[in-house]
Amino acid sequence: MVAEGAGLTRMAAKPVKLRQYLQSLGYGTRREVEALLAEGRVTDAGGEALYVDDEVGEGTPVRGGHRLPHAALRVDGLPLDPAQGLLVAMHKPIGVTCSTKDPGRVVYDLLPARWKAREPIVSPVGRLDKDSSGLLLFTDDGQLLHRLTSPKHHQPKVYRATLAEDLRGNEAELFAAGSLLLEGETKPLLPAVLEVLGPREARLTLHEGRYHQVRRMFAATGNAVLTLHREAIGGLSLDALGLAAGAWRLLAAEERALLGH
Ligand code: URA
Repeated sequence: MVAEGAGLTRMAAKPVKLRQYLQSLGYGTRREVEALLAEGRVTDAGGEALYVDDEVGEGTPVRGGHRLPHAALRVDGLPLDPAQGLLVAMHKPIGVTCSTKDPGRVVYDLLPARWKAREPIVSPVGRLDKDSSGLLLFTDDGQLLHRLTSPKHHQPKVYRATLAEDLRGNEAELFAAGSLLLEGETKPLLPAVLEVLGPREARLTLHEGRYHQVRRMFAATGNAVLTLHREAIGGLSLDALGLAAGAWRLLAAEERALLGH
């Protein structure tokens, strides 16, 4: 998938040596990146080969050589992977785990293989169960990750659930009350909004994210969730993003703004 969007143009504030920069984007070990440079495979947009001591950044280098912005660099003639500070939206399919350690299919398998070697690492913003699908965000920006996951800046999350049994009719009131206690917990849930979509289908908007929260909320009503799909996070909806199951893309500036970033 072609990486377009805000991340491509965002620059590291301080100039960085080209070798170090390419290493941090996962282009290889020190030796591998040095080999790429020695083979003339790292160039500017016009195809001129760059050297190990050239820099990535703005302005004029003090000691000569080249200093180029991220957007002007090419490896094997191709634009670089997104710069640091990326924010990615994925349509997580069912059956894939939000983990690096799971022996089965993991969400990282859906992203470019090189991203596994990026530094700082690209992490999911919150999680979705293996059996759940829907909107999942990733970032390599620690501050952004903190803001997007901190209860203080919580973005409402919207889920659509299909259920094993008919709704009883009292669920909306129970979830809105702000007094529901999940099994094994001592702090009641914050009020949540339930919209009934059918006898066994509902949309639920949460203002916090506890472990398996939706499944446990319906379990507390004597029901069971059969399918669970996250439709939206804050103002960002999967439908509007137009991502098919398993697809991802970098968020553009106006899409980031829908999350308050
Ligand atoms: N609630 C759940 O039960 N599972 C999820 O994946 C997300 C919210």
